[in-house]
Amino acid sequence: AQQAEFVVVANRLPVDKAVLPDGEVSWKRSPGGLVTALEPILRSHTGAWVGWSGVPDSDDNPDIEGLDIRAVPLSSAEIAEYYEGFSNATLWPLYHDVIAKPEYHREWWNAYVAINERFAKATAEVAGPGALVWVQDYQLQLVPQMLRDLRPDLKIGFFLHIPFPPVELFMQLPWRREIVNGLLGADLIGFHLPDGAENFLYLANRLGGHQASRRSVGVRSRFGSVDVGDRVVTVGAFPISIASGEIDAASKSREIRKRAREIRKELGNPSTILLGVDRLDYTKGIDVRLKAVSELLEEQRLDPHETVLVQLATPSRERVESYVAMRSEIEQLVGHINGTFAEVGQPVVQYLNRPIPRDELLAFFVAADVMLVTPLRDGMNLVAKEYVACRSDLGGALVLSEFTGAAAELKQAYQANPYDMEGVKGAIEAAVKQPAEDGRARMRALRRQVLTHDVEKWAKSFLDTLQDSTDR
Ligand code: G6P
Repeated sequence: AQQAEFVVVANRLPVDKAVLPDGEVSWKRSPGGLVTALEPILRSHTGAWVGWSGVPDSDDNPDIEGLDIRAVPLSSAEIAEYYEGFSNATLWPLYHDVIAKPEYHREWWNAYVAINERFAKATAEVAGPGALVWVQDYQLQLVPQMLRDLRPDLKIGFFLHIPFPPVELFMQLPWRREIVNGLLGADLIGFHLPDGAENFLYLANRLGGHQASRRSVGVRSRFGSVDVGDRVVTVGAFPISIASGEIDAASKSREIRKRAREIRKELGNPSTILLGVDRLDYTKGIDVRLKAVSELLEEQRLDPHETVLVQLATPSRERVESYVAMRSEIEQLVGHINGTFAEVGQPVVQYLNRPIPRDELLAFFVAADVMLVTPLRDGMNLVAKEYVACRSDLGGALVLSEFTGAAAELKQAYQANPYDMEGVKGAIEAAVKQPAEDGRARMRALRRQVLTHDVEKWAKSFLDTLQDSTDR
C-alpha cells in the first residue's frame, strides 16, 4: 500500500540478515549512525525503509515495530555486478581520488541501472502521496530521477556519504552524464563539504547544460542551486555526525570504564596505547600508520617496550580484488613490525580482522592514549568523532588525516597529510608526547564541536532544507 509519509532508501537495510549454518535466520541491527538518527523521525511519521538485506535472493521483510521494511532482492550475479562491481570497484575508487584504479565495464553499468530501477519502483510502491523520500549514497545515484519519472508528486532528497570527486577525475566515468542527470532528479542534493557541492555544481552546468548558480556555495555559505527546466534543485553541504550524547553517556558507564582498565592490563600496561579502528579498506590508510609507527620504532622515537598499537579492522567487501590486496599488505606490515620489534609474549602490534561488538569498541576508545585516523581520502570519518565523544575524561589525543571530512571540524586534532610520511610521524610523536594540559585543552575544544553537532542535528538540517526547497 502507498502510505508511508517518510521513506529512507539505502543500499543497506537498517538490519542485516544472517543465515546460520543450520538455516536459521536472524536479523541484527546495522551498527551505523544513520538508523539511530532517523529512527525517531521514521517512527513519528509512518516511516518506511527500502534496502537490501546483505544476502543473495532474499525478499522477506523483518518485523520492526513502527517501521515498514521493504527488502529489495539481489541475486548473486547482481551482487557481483551492481554492488561489488560498479558500486565498489568503479565508483568507490573513482570518488576516493583513484587510490585504487577504477574499472569500467558496461555489464556492471547495465546492472547498476537495472538495480537502481528496482529500488525506484519499490520506493514508488511504498511512498504515500506527496511523501518525503531520502535516497542515500553512491550506490543509488540514478534513483532520484527514476523516482521522479514514476512519482512526480514526491519530495526527493539525496545525500552522498562519500567524497564527491574533483571534476578532472569524475570526467573519466563513461556514464558521467547519466549520473549527473540521475542526481538532478532530486529537490535537494547534499554533500559533506562545500568542495563536493562546488564540484557537482560545475558538472551540472558542464554536463547537464543546466544553469547552475555557484555564487553562494563555498566559504561563506553552504548552498547553491541548479535550474532544471522549471524546477530548482538545491545543492548544499551537510557534514554528518554521530549520536554524540548517547556515545558520551555510554562511555561513562561503569562497565565500559572497567573494561577499558582491563584492556590496558591485558595489553601489559604499556605507557602508550595507539589505536586504529576501521573497515579494512584501502582508503583508510591503515598501511600509512603502520609504516609511520614502524619508522618511529626504528628511529627510537617510540619505545617498543612501552608502546602497543591495536589495529581493529572490520572485514569489508572481501570479494573485491583491491580489498584482498590491501589485506595482505597490512598483514605483512604487522608481521614485519612484530618480527622486528616484539618480544615473545609481547607483540607491538595487536591486529584483529573481525567485527568488534559496539561496547568493546567504546572501551578501546576510552583506553587509547592516541587514536590514529590516517585515511588517504574519507568523506567524513565517524570514528574520529566517536573517539572524541568517548573522552569525557579529557584524556587521549587524536591524530587525523587532513583528507577526511572530519578535519574541517576537528581543528584541534594533530592533523597531517597522509602522503607525507615525516608529517604523519611528527603528528604521532607530538600526540604521544603532548603535555597533559595541552592535551586537555585540545580535547575540550574537540568535544565542544562533536557534542554540539550530532547526527540528529544533521538529519534535521537536511530535512528542513528539503521541506523549504519544495515549499517554494
Ligand atoms: C561506507 C558507505 C556506506 C556503506 C558502508 C559499509 O560508509 O558510505 O554506504 O554502507 O561504507 O560498506 P558496505 O559495502 O558493507 O555497505
